Parts: sequence; structure tokens; C-alpha cells
Amino acid sequence: MTSLSDEERRALIDLANEARRRAYAPYSNYHVGAALRTRSGRIFTGCNVENAAYPTGMCAERIAIFKAVSEGEREFEVIAVATSNGGSPCGGCRQVMAEFGLDTIVLIGDGEGHLIQETTVAGLLPGAFTPKDLL
Ligand code: THU
Repeated sequence: MTSLSDEERRALIDLANEARRRAYAPYSNYHVGAALRTRSGRIFTGCNVENAAYPTGMCAERIAIFKAVSEGEREFEVIAVATSNGGSPCGGCRQVMAEFGLDTIVLIGDGEGHLIQETTVAGLLPGAFTPKDLL
């Protein structure tokens, strides 16, 4: 089980906020950033990227996860998510997180770098449908 220091929490939320500044969200104007740390210690960031054809946009968390998976990483320790108001990951992102492990720590931060909530993927998505359900 991963345990995080306050310094690590703070650094990940700061990285998520840095990514948030790169959000492309001209339609909702809700800027989201994510920073994902893998078991191997690599960090992948993401921001939401919207589109004039609304449903084709993508959330920050999924961009960070897809970047990691596309670079060969599938084991995640912690994902930090930052929004102006400390908003929680959407259901679609929770499901994508669950695919890669229910124990991944989720840090939810606000735009000032405060930790609003610390939980796990299992905490965010009880009873998750996972790859095991297909066996
Ligand atoms: N959004 C995220 O990036 N992550 C979430 O978990 C919730 C929602 C984005 C999608 C859209 O660009 C904007 O926030 C408003 O829904």
C-alpha cells in the first residue's frame, strides 16, 4: 500500500494545477488538471480538451491515464486532480481509473493547491465493474 508524505501530496496537486493552466475549455470554462504517478515513478499530466462538437472533448484524468498507458505504463500509485473549486472526478473517469486498479490513491485539490479530499478509486466507485468481471 502506497503512503504519501504531505510534500508528495502538495507536489502532485501543484503539478495538476500546472496542467490545469493548459486546459482547453472555451465552452465550459471549467479548467481541470491531473497528475498521475506510476509505480515506476514516472509522472503523466493531463488537462481537459474540449471541442466544438461537445461530446468529442476529453477529461483531464483520462488524458493523463491514456498518455501513461500509451507510453507502456499500467500500474498507478496516485492521481491528483485539480479544479478551481475542488470538484470530484466524473463517472467516466472513475471507470477508466478502475480498469487499472481500485487501490490507486485519488487526491482532489483546489485551484489554490489545497487538498480537498484524499480517497481511492474503490472509494469513488464502490462495486466497480472491472476486468475480473469478464472472466
Ligand atoms: N472534466 C474533467 O476534465 N474531468 C472530470 O472529472 C470532470 C469534468 C471536464 C470535462 C469538460 O471539459 C469540463 O470539465 C466540464 O464538464
